[in-house]
This record gives sequence, structure tokens and C-alpha cells, in this order.
Amino acid sequence: MLEEELKNRIWQRYFKKYDCAGIVPQDVRERKGAFYTPQIWVELSQKYLANTFGVNWQEEYYIWDCCAGTGNLLNGLSNKYKIFASTLDQQDVDVMRDRIRNGANLLENHVFQFDFLNDDFFSEKVPEKLREIIADEKLRQKLIIYINPPYSEPSSYGKGGKPQVANLTKTFKRFSGTIGSEAMQELFTQFFVRTFNDLSGSTLATFSKPKFITSQKYDKFRQNFKAKFLKGFACKAETFDNVDGKFPIGFYILSLNNTSVLKKIALDVYDNDKALIKYTKIGKKTFSSVIGKSIGEWRKTFYDIDSEPIGYAIIVGPSMQSNNNTFFTSAPALSYQKKGMVANITANNVVEFSIYLAVRQCVEANWINDKDNYLYPSNKWAKDKEFHTNCLIYTLFHSQNRISGNNNINHWIPFTEYEVDAKEEFASHFMSNFLAGKIKSDNPKTLFVSSEQHRNTEIVVTHTAQAVLNAGRELWRYYHTMADANPNASLYDIKEYFQGRDKNGKMNASSSDQVYTKLMESLKSALWNLGELIKPKVYEYGFLDE
Ligand SMILES: C[S@@+](CC[C@H](N)C(=O)[O-])C[C@H]1O[C@@H](n2cnc3c(N)ncnc32)[C@H](O)[C@@H]1O
Repeated sequence: MLEEELKNRIWQRYFKKYDCAGIVPQDVRERKGAFYTPQIWVELSQKYLANTFGVNWQEEYYIWDCCAGTGNLLNGLSNKYKIFASTLDQQDVDVMRDRIRNGANLLENHVFQFDFLNDDFFSEKVPEKLREIIADEKLRQKLIIYINPPYSEPSSYGKGGKPQVANLTKTFKRFSGTIGSEAMQELFTQFFVRTFNDLSGSTLATFSKPKFITSQKYDKFRQNFKAKFLKGFACKAETFDNVDGKFPIGFYILSLNNTSVLKKIALDVYDNDKALIKYTKIGKKTFSSVIGKSIGEWRKTFYDIDSEPIGYAIIVGPSMQSNNNTFFTSAPALSYQKKGMVANITANNVVEFSIYLAVRQCVEANWINDKDNYLYPSNKWAKDKEFHTNCLIYTLFHSQNRISGNNNINHWIPFTEYEVDAKEEFASHFMSNFLAGKIKSDNPKTLFVSSEQHRNTEIVVTHTAQAVLNAGRELWRYYHTMADANPNASLYDIKEYFQGRDKNGKMNASSSDQVYTKLMESLKSALWNLGELIKPKVYEYGFLDE
């Protein structure tokens, strides 16, 4: 077994004994944000520190973990004479002292109880050597505040008799005026702000969500917290104790000896194995505060309340994580109408709405991009006719297109009756005519149907989009061999016919009809290929930042 792995296991066993055995009860931990950093990320963060400050960094720099808990983050460091560890709870200090007696590489005099958000840096609690460093501008430049700060905010507390924590601290009172109380409600922000103001010139090496870079709530914070980003990485939040959800947590080395405003940070991205022993670098991700206008603003440019709707779009917020809640329907529920979440799709804006849906469906959400926002695109999309057609065809066959012909006229059948051998005439030929370039509009908002060039041409269908149409046509043809087929059925209706619903009314995921299953598989695979063709344009035209 590798030496590192062995050390790791011994520590995990030790940690379980002391930290999870209920020394500090769970509800108290939640209130104080007392959750430990996985050893895999502790190790990696120390590698990043060594890469930033050189192999001898521990000889040259002082390290202070000022929210050390039981000292987990300091595990693996070698020069105990330059390490300081303080934390809120005396019980945790006692555990650290006990660990020292059991061989932990820390100095008993350098481990102390200290409330970083309330206590005075020059109080007797603070070891003399550390006071000397704090007071000296030059020595502060050699000080690294190395932390995984607590994550808690009063909004999630103060309930059920629990005290509110974050907005009671001296640091909150001192800085909420300049930084804004919304950002300062988060304990981790308070650690950042006090370090910046009272330990100027030092380095902050910290774990945190990237929201201090990306969130608009942190605008004032960014104007005041001037720092230079040196190095850092992102890993999965769910690997951290007690954290659920698919989003990134970053480790950032920030020089506070700087006057520039943090706008963009590019982090190396790491994945991990299940046992949390190995990590793999999988790419880079830029987190940015330079957020342009949102896709919602763009959507407003093609609203059409004057023409006859052919369907309705359910519209949601701009973030990646809300993509599953945007879809097309023939009959929007009253609840959506009441909340103003319904937009008409008409002959004048069907192309733009298809682009809107396609760009939001072809890029898969994952833990790295989950919080990314869709933006107001550049004008380039408007000239790309092939992109328009690809998005339209993608949308016609996508599962978020829930248009139905059951109780409404279905304007969305992409084929003629002849092509699919329907038993009756369709109630609407809108979509097959539209695809054949036979429907015109004088609405200047829609370049697709109003441009002179397009008026006289058929829509150009790429090979990849044609493969989707072909696979879809086969599916429709098979459906129309059924004795009870509804001539006006939509793709959604066809799926419902073959897949059926469970007792709760939810559509089943599969069908026992083997022919249908095969045809559906072909359609899905052709659609995936088309999505891959659209994806690069999502970035090129600025619907998403790289
Ligand atoms: C996320 S845990 C990190 C623990 C450990 N350093 C690690 O990385 O595994 C944050 C720690 O900060 C402590 N803490 C909370 N508020 C504090 C404060 N005002 N001053 C000092 N420590 C505090 C908590 O008790 C908790 O142990």
C-alpha cells in the first residue's frame, strides 16, 4: 500500500473516532457549518500550495487555519513550528491537543480557542508569535490563511429555536454596510472579509463555492475584496461531508497583496473515484462575474401576442438547472398561466422558440455547469439558416416538446398524410408546410420566414437533421399501422400510446412493443447526433459562456 494511502486510512479511522462519534452534536455542527474536508482534497490543496509557493513553501510561510475544527485540513503538513490552528469550540481544541499526544504534527502552544469573527487579534488567546506576525506588514506577506470556512447562513437557521449565528458577529456588524448584508449573512464571506481587512497583504488559501465570483449578490463584496487569483481547482461538492447537490466546490489561492477586482477565475477541474482515494484532472472551468444580459431578455424580443398560437412555451429562469422545467405544450396548466410562465408560439416566432428550446436541451447539465446562466446571444445566430433548421427539427422530436393532438389541433406534424400513410386527413398541415417553406410571415421580428432570401427557397436540411426526419417518419408510419391510431397524434401521443402510464399517471419509461422500441432508439440516436451539431453553436453564438 502506498505511504500516502496508508496515512490517509489511519487518519480516516482516527477522524471517525473523534469527529463523528458525537463529540459535537449534529445540530450544533449544522449551525456552525462544522463539516470536514475530505482528505483527498486536503492533499490536493497542499499540492497546489506547493506548486504556487515552491517546494520549500512550508519553510518560508506561516500557516494559520483559523477555523480548524479538529485540525483535519492541517493533516499532512510538515513544519509544526510555522503552523497555527485555532477554532471556535474548546472541545475541538481538546481533540487537537489529544491528537498531538497521539503523534499529530502540531505544536501544543500553537493550538488555541479563538472566535475569528468576534475576537481581538491582539488578545492573550493568540500565541505571541502569531500576534507578532499579524502586527508586522512584512511578516503578514508570509502568512497563509489556509481554511475550509464554515458554511451556514441565518436564513437556514433561527428556526425551531436555533439561534441565528451569522448576523450576530462583530464582523457582520462591522462590514455588512459596505459589503451588503446578503453576502455577509454567509459565514464564509465573513472569514474572507475579516482576513482581507485585518490581515492585509497575506494570502487566503480557501475552499468555497464559486458564488463569491459568480453571484450578483456579491457585487459589493467584489468591489471591496481586492485580490489576485494565483491557482486553484474545483471538485464535486457531494464529496464533502453533509453536502448534497451537484455543484462544484473550489479551492482558491488568493493573494490579498493586490488591488485588482476579481472578475474571472479559471479552475482546474478534478473528478474522483468512489472511495475518495484517487482524483483525475478532467479539464478547466472559468467562473466569471461578467454576466451579460440573460436569455430571458432575448426571449422578450420575439414574444407574439397578436397571432394565432400553434402551441405554448413554458418559460423559466435562465440557469442550466431549470432546463428540465422548460417545455412546449398545447394546453398550459392554469398554475403556469397564473405565474406568467406561458408564452405563445406562433408562425412568427416558432423558429426562435425552437432555438430557445434546442440550445437549452442539447448541452447536458452536470455538476460543473449546473449553475451556469443562458445569455442574450450575439446577432450571429440570425444569419445561420442551417442552425435555424437544425434547431427546429431537433425541437420537433425532443421529449420536452409535449404538444398533443388529443384534445387540440396538432399543428406540429412534420409529415404529410401520404408520407406516413395516415388513415385520415390531418386537421392541420402547418408544420409540413412550414418545413417546405410554404408559410410566409410579414412579421419583421422573424428573420426566418420574412427574409427575402428565404421566401424563395426551401429550407435547407442537413444530412444529420434529415436522419432525424427519416427516423421520425418511420416511427409515425409504424404508429399509423395500428388499428386505433389517431391521425392527429403528435410524437408525445405516439409515445404515450406505446409506453402507457403508471398508476400515478406518469408515462412509463419503456414499451413492450419491440418494433416501437427499436424505432425509438434510432430516433433518439439521430437526435443525439443533431444535438452534437447544435452544441458548438450554443457557445459560438453566446447562448452560454465557454
Ligand atoms: C467546514 S469546518 C472545517 C473543519 C476542518 N478545518 C476541516 O477542514 O475539515 C469549519 C470549522 O469552523 C469552525 N468555526 C465556525 N465558526 C467559527 C468562528 N467564528 N471562529 C473560528 N472557527 C469557527 C467550526 O466549528 C468548524 O470546525
